Amino acid sequence: MFRKLHEPGAQALTLTIDGVPVRAEPGETVAAVLLRQQTAASRTTPVNESPRAPYCMMGVCFDCLAIVDGVASTQTCLVTVREGMRVERQFGKRSVLP
Ligand code: FES
Repeated sequence: MFRKLHEPGAQALTLTIDGVPVRAEPGETVAAVLLRQQTAASRTTPVNESPRAPYCMMGVCFDCLAIVDGVASTQTCLVTVREGMRVERQFGKRSVLP
């Protein structure tokens, strides 16, 4: 649905989303990168597993929750990308165990 107006340049970095390498630019949020993917959903709801994707992009709606570097329920719109970051979509209820 979304795409960058230009491709990441020499400053591009690589993170993984569900194990797939993805390029991004320093300063982008993880939510912005998720919205550019084929499947923009970052999570499913715990009750009926409806897909949710980043919406407000300012930390209000909680629709952008995902697992970032092993930390569940991370608000991806508030986290900027880092080299080697591991992002996983969060399905259903989050686990309280590491
Ligand atoms: S997109 Fe709404 S809280 Fe992150």
